Amino acid sequence: MMDKKVHELLNQQINKELYSAYLYLDFSNYFKAKGLDGFANWYMIQAQEERDHAMLFYTYLQNENMTVTLESIAKPDKVFNEHMDVLKAGLEHEEYVTSLINEIYGAAYDVRDFRTMQFLDWFVKEQGEEETNANDLISKMELFGSDPKSLYMLNQELAARVYSAPSLVL
Ligand code: FEO
Repeated sequence: MMDKKVHELLNQQINKELYSAYLYLDFSNYFKAKGLDGFANWYMIQAQEERDHAMLFYTYLQNENMTVTLESIAKPDKVFNEHMDVLKAGLEHEEYVTSLINEIYGAAYDVRDFRTMQFLDWFVKEQGEEETNANDLISKMELFGSDPKSLYMLNQELAARVYSAPSLVL
């Protein structure tokens, strides 16, 4: 039987990941409105990945015969004035999600729930990649964002991002 706190945190993470998807949809919407379709595409795919993350937590709990309780998803409420603000909000959000994954991991560790720890290993690695991606995007924007031609090329580069399903299958 799964520990109560581990169960609660895993269930909450479904909501956090769905909120992440919602947040990135909002970012995508911001860039679409600014005419930067490549950036919009990049965040749209990010949103798809977050939905996948939510489904992994959902499926894991179901596979463990634990109840899943869906809560309401908060409204993304940030208003952005500059492109860079969006990118920085993305990095900040990923760092926050990393702290959540670490918290669940810590709770599972405390009760020797090795199965949950093994499940979370994939997310520990994924968060490292997501923070790297968010940082890279900020670096590129710092280098190229102020020159229209370079921004156009960066936008083209981000337009090429394609969705791939998560490597973790439950
Ligand atoms: Fe699912 Fe980007 O954290």
